[in-house]
Amino acid sequence: MSVGIPISRLWPDPSGEPLDDAALTALYGRADRPHLRVNFVASVDGAVTVDGYSAGLSGEPDKRVFGLLRMLCDALLVAAGTLRHESYRAVRLDEGRRAWRRAHGLAEYPTLVVVSGSLDLDPGQAAFADAPVRPVVLTRADATAPPGLTDVADVVRVGGDRVDLAAGLAELRGRGLDQLLCEGGPHLFGGLTAADLVDEVCLTVAPLLAGPGPGRITAGEEAAVRHLPLRHVLAVADGVLMLRYARG
Ligand SMILES: NC(=O)c1ccc[n+]([C@@H]2O[C@H](COP(=O)([O-])OP(=O)(O)OC[C@H]3O[C@@H](n4cnc5c(N)ncnc54)[C@H](OP(=O)(O)O)[C@@H]3O)[C@@H](O)[C@H]2O)c1
Repeated sequence: MSVGIPISRLWPDPSGEPLDDAALTALYGRADRPHLRVNFVASVDGAVTVDGYSAGLSGEPDKRVFGLLRMLCDALLVAAGTLRHESYRAVRLDEGRRAWRRAHGLAEYPTLVVVSGSLDLDPGQAAFADAPVRPVVLTRADATAPPGLTDVADVVRVGGDRVDLAAGLAELRGRGLDQLLCEGGPHLFGGLTAADLVDEVCLTVAPLLAGPGPGRITAGEEAAVRHLPLRHVLAVADGVLMLRYARG
C-alpha cells in the first residue's frame, strides 16, 4: 500500500509519524450500524469547485483517502448532476483494495447508486456501461427512462413527484447496502441534510482561496441546523486539512 505525501494526525492524539493506508483505514473504518458518510473537498473560503470542477481542489492525499473511502463502503451514492458533469467512470479498485474487501466478506466492488429525478442519464456512460456491479438508479415515480437504461442499471422508483431519499436509503439497506458513501454533489448533500440522513461528513480543506464565484458543498432546500461533532483532524505535508465529523 502506498504512503505518498505524508498525512499525520493532529487531533486527537497527534501521531507525529505519517499514517499509512492501514492506519487511515482504521481511522475511517466501517460503522457497526447503517451509516451514510458524505465526502467533499472545498477551498478555505468554502468553494466546491475551481474552474467548474473538483479536481482543482484535490491532490494526491485527498485522492488516496477518496479511494480508501470507496474501499470501505457497500455502495457509492452520487447525484446525476455530478455523474454527468464529472464524467463518472466505472468504480474500480486496485487489487490490494479488492483483496481487503474479500478478506472482510464484502463484494469485490461497491455498488454505484445514482440519484436522478429526470432520468436524463446516458446508459453508454462508462459509469453504467463498464460497471463491475450493476448500478442502481433512484428516481421518482413518473420519470421516463431513456432507451437502454434498464439494460445496464436497476431503476428504482421511490417517492411520487420527487425522489424520496429516506425511502431510497431504506431500499438500499434492504439490498444489504448498509455502509453508504455519498460523493455529492451539493444538491444531493443538501437533500440528504434536509432529510436528516447524514451520519458523517469527511471534508478535505485545500489551502486555496477560490473567490466568490463557485457554490458551496451544499445547495437546494433549507434544512434545520444540526450539530455534527468533530472526530479527527489530519494534516497533509502540503497544508491540506482532512476533517471528519460524525454523529455519536
Ligand atoms: N468538491 C467536491 O468534493 C465535489 C463533489 C461533487 C460534486 N462537485 C461539483 O458539484 C457540481 C455539481 O453540482 P450540482 O449542482 O449539479 O449538484 P448535484 O447534487 O451533483 O446534482 C444535482 C442533480 O442530481 C439529481 N439530484 C440530486 N439530488 C436529488 C434529489 N434529492 N432528488 C432527485 N434528484 C436529485 C438531479 O438530477 P436530474 O437532473 O437527473 O433530475 C439534480 O439535477 C459540479 O461542478 C461538481 O464538480 C464537487
